[in-house]
Amino acid sequence: KTDVSIGLLGLGTVGCGVVKLIRQHQEELVHQLGYEVKVKRILVRDIEKDRDIEIDPASITLNPDDILNDPEIDVVVEVMGGVNEARQYIIKALENKKHVVTANKDLIALYGPELQELAWKNQCDLLYEASVGGGIPIIRGLTDGLVSDRIQKVMGIVNGTTNFILTKMMDEGVSYEEALRDAQALGFAEADPTADVEGLDAARKMAILARLAFYTNVKLEDVEVGGITNLSSEDLHYGKTLGYTMKLIGVAECQDEQIEVCVQPTFVAQNHPLASVKNEFNAVYINGEAIGEAMFYGPGAGSMPTATAVVSDVVAAIKNMQLGVNGRNLRGPRFERKLMPLDQ
Ligand code: NDP
Ligand code: HSE
Repeated sequence: KTDVSIGLLGLGTVGCGVVKLIRQHQEELVHQLGYEVKVKRILVRDIEKDRDIEIDPASITLNPDDILNDPEIDVVVEVMGGVNEARQYIIKALENKKHVVTANKDLIALYGPELQELAWKNQCDLLYEASVGGGIPIIRGLTDGLVSDRIQKVMGIVNGTTNFILTKMMDEGVSYEEALRDAQALGFAEADPTADVEGLDAARKMAILARLAFYTNVKLEDVEVGGITNLSSEDLHYGKTLGYTMKLIGVAECQDEQIEVCVQPTFVAQNHPLASVKNEFNAVYINGEAIGEAMFYGPGAGSMPTATAVVSDVVAAIKNMQLGVNGRNLRGPRFERKLMPLDQ
């Protein structure tokens, strides 16, 4: 065998980035794995659509089973978004003993623990680095780099679209509508940007980070959520004259077996490090009992940064396959802690 085949579910902003990155960095992948990584089949909705990249038409399909039932495909990469179909396809992939990499925070926030169980049962990897923080290795940071610590708080900017909009409104006087259109054109926003601007996307990401940090299943309905749709340019500029910058901030905190997770627009002092996080960039602070404070910073959305996280997960899954340890050394807690909501 000289290559490993992957199947891609979706060929939009992230999917095109994944194909490009695999092509452009094939040499690095071969150095890491000893194999070439080949994108064998790609699922789309519309076969006629113009794509950003050249694709062999024979590799495109409208039938998910061409990927999920193909015995030559070892890793299924889900970058199509949405919940129901994505969930069904991932379940089928895992049942067919394929490793799964996904960028889908909507799905992981809702069904992460259930899918993780299924992955363990089938000795498969389920990796989702791109679901939080775009290209920033925040999930690896939490679940590998800081795994020996006791995490107390996770806080930061985890939505690129809203940070982009707020930056454009405050720094360049651009209107909310125009800034949102730009974020969509640049591929940062979700297919339906309501989830971005209403704070739900950030809430899903904070729920995922809180689950990994505190070993507990955080339900989305327990996350207090505010978005940026009610902020006016006047409010933002008034804040600015007083020395503050508006940011959509997520906080997940655990104290004395009580947990609180929330996302709220917040005025941050202009000399606070989070104030200098601009455009689609994200930044997450982690407070751990032993490490103190650590910060993760980088592009939180966009085609190539997100593709980096996805393809790095593909490499991790293939390496585990080579070692024969898939599904055994997985990220994420193996037990669930019962925590109470923080007293109001
Ligand atoms: P896009 O809307 O750009 O692309 C989605 C792709 O999936 C399209 O190619 C679409 O096909 C295909 N697709 C969607 N639904 C179906 C379906 N039911 N059957 C077959 N194909 C389908 O999304 P993104 O690439 O932006 O995002 C993909 C995922 O990555 C989402 O979960 C998103 O939240 C996540 N993500 C996105 C980031 C970003 O910066 N954009 C960053 C981090 C995560 P067609 O092209 O034919 O319409
Ligand atoms: N729509 C998301 C954002 C994409 O703007 O952060 C990255 O998850």
